[in-house]
Amino acid sequence: MHRRDWRSSAVTMSVTVSHDASLRHLNSFGIQASANRLIEVNDDRDLDQAIDLCGDSGPELILGGGSNLLIVAPIRGTVLRLASAHQTIIGQADGLTIVEAAAGCNWHSFVGWTLAQGLAGLENLSLIPGTVGAAPIQNIGAYGLELAERFDSLTAIHLPTGATRLFNRAECQFGYRDSVFKRPPLSQWLIRTVRFALAPDLPLRTDYGEIGKQLARDGVQRPHAVDVANAVVAIRRRRLPDPAIIGNAGSFFKNPLISISLAEQLHLRFSNLPRFPSNQPSDSRVKLSAAWLIEQCGWKGQRRGDAGVYQRHALVLVNHGHATGRDLLSLAQEIRDSVQQRFGVTLEPEPIIVPVDKQ
Ligand code: EPU
Repeated sequence: MHRRDWRSSAVTMSVTVSHDASLRHLNSFGIQASANRLIEVNDDRDLDQAIDLCGDSGPELILGGGSNLLIVAPIRGTVLRLASAHQTIIGQADGLTIVEAAAGCNWHSFVGWTLAQGLAGLENLSLIPGTVGAAPIQNIGAYGLELAERFDSLTAIHLPTGATRLFNRAECQFGYRDSVFKRPPLSQWLIRTVRFALAPDLPLRTDYGEIGKQLARDGVQRPHAVDVANAVVAIRRRRLPDPAIIGNAGSFFKNPLISISLAEQLHLRFSNLPRFPSNQPSDSRVKLSAAWLIEQCGWKGQRRGDAGVYQRHALVLVNHGHATGRDLLSLAQEIRDSVQQRFGVTLEPEPIIVPVDKQ
């Protein structure tokens, strides 16, 4: 791969290169961080050119919607940002409709598009911030559904060699907020397109949490997928902060999975401890509510300067204005230590912390 030394800000109509670029508006925490170089691609057809521009060492960070990362130091290398957005119906397979979207599509807009095609299946995942390309990386999930259940396949470019590869569901190794793409070495695969298997008549999931209550409140007796989407949007708007107003990355910690015996011991000491099945095939562990553990330690609504814990949901760390990535990371560490001390349970962050070697 040969290196070119572009100084211009627009290489083609769809590829732009900026130096000493601010990433503030490109991460949902709204953290003021910079990258030595930012390459943005708006059209899939120019992706190869953009990869070429990254040089032999490739991008240090591949950015989608920036909604699942915490930037704790300046990025010395190149950030590659995909913003190409198109979606299409590919055809039928096993009674399901296969749809494909480019990695740069906004996730929520894509869900809206599938519903407008009369296809059910993704409605519970409405209003999740971020892009289609980022969604499989952490196997996004909400309100009783994980992306893996509707996933068909994806294509990704192996950056060290430039080869394109198709990944089926098994090859993605999906787990709870996890996939093969979230494990080191990061930024090795560039997800280009993702396919989903949907249908007009997929059974609706309305039994999780507040969905049933919200549908009743909306006066919906025989819900369609669109009604479930509207209910999810209403619940999320009520419970979670809008990143456009207050910086955040959704849940900051994963819900911990612990052994049945540890869950039983904890339940003896804390009789109201919420416990859930892991919901992963062949995983007998018990899932605890990280939000509950954090709230019990008194963190809800707390602040350390501009880094805080959201008033209405203990699992969401927020940037009240000028928090740095380090401020948020040290708050997260304090929270983690206090949960560890009180419950003997280790919390793991859900967002990717970058740069990876500066943690
Ligand atoms: N709870 C508290 N205090 C709080 C909030 C919640 O004690 O401040 C307890 C309650 O017992 C509640 C339980 O936690 O019943 C679960 O709360 P919630 O339904 O909000 O779900 P969560 O486990 O906190 C997960 C996902 C969210 C997803 C929701 C809804 C993870 C890490 N988070 O949160 O996903 O929207 O379920 O399905 O699995 C994300 O990943 O960024 C995200 C927002």
